[in-house]
Amino acid sequence: VRQLLRELPVFEGVAEDGLAVEDLPANPLRALREWLLRAVEAGEREPHAMTLATVSADGRPSSRVLLCKDLDDSAVYFATSARSRKGTEIAETGQAAACFYWCGQGRQVRLTGPVVRQPAPAGADDFNARSRASKLAALLEPQPGVASAAQLADAARRLAQRYPADIPAPPDWAVYAIQPTEVELWQGRRDRLHARVRYDRGTDGWRRRLLWP
Ligand SMILES: Cc1cc2nc3c(=O)[nH]c(=O)nc-3n(C[C@H](O)[C@H](O)[C@H](O)COP(=O)(O)O)c2cc1C
Repeated sequence: VRQLLRELPVFEGVAEDGLAVEDLPANPLRALREWLLRAVEAGEREPHAMTLATVSADGRPSSRVLLCKDLDDSAVYFATSARSRKGTEIAETGQAAACFYWCGQGRQVRLTGPVVRQPAPAGADDFNARSRASKLAALLEPQPGVASAAQLADAARRLAQRYPADIPAPPDWAVYAIQPTEVELWQGRRDRLHARVRYDRGTDGWRRRLLWP
């Protein structure tokens, strides 16, 4: 597979130009919002998918893809089970990193910072807005030790029978806010002089600087 991987094209969607730091919003979450909206307009598939990395108390990292549910000037929001591995690790460390990638634009945004579980109604609102299939899956997800596909299907059937109509939001379904203290915007360039702008949040607001590619 090595040769095949080496021959695959990369950065086909990237721009000719880099990033003019002075043209970027002072708040990197505004920049993230702009880039996300551009990706939506460009028809990028699942532009709101992001990789979330967490770390256990003993330093073992893990990552997975999640959907960004919202973002504002101070945070990026996602929903998951507090009993999941990521939920447990966030409870242990209070930190996470997330990374968005839009292949068509040759753009990446990475962010790191404290994570705050939002008050319970936010989790219930997110859960209630989900499809029935997604709700049933969410109820199944935190149960460890499923031994076979047949057992999984059986558990799903039993849950569906138990809740023929409404499915109540489980107390562990939660919305989390990553409140980044570091954000990096990355714009790929055909000449490989990729542009990276790093933002750091201090007591007096955001500072930004251009990094070496
Ligand atoms: C495109 C995509 C979107 C996903 N969105 C979510 C999500 O919004 N919330 C969630 O809990 N899991 C989501 N998942 C599943 C997670 O990647 C992961 O498998 C699951 O949450 C268990 O993670 P954990 O055991 O590391 O906590 C998504 C997976 C993919 C591929």
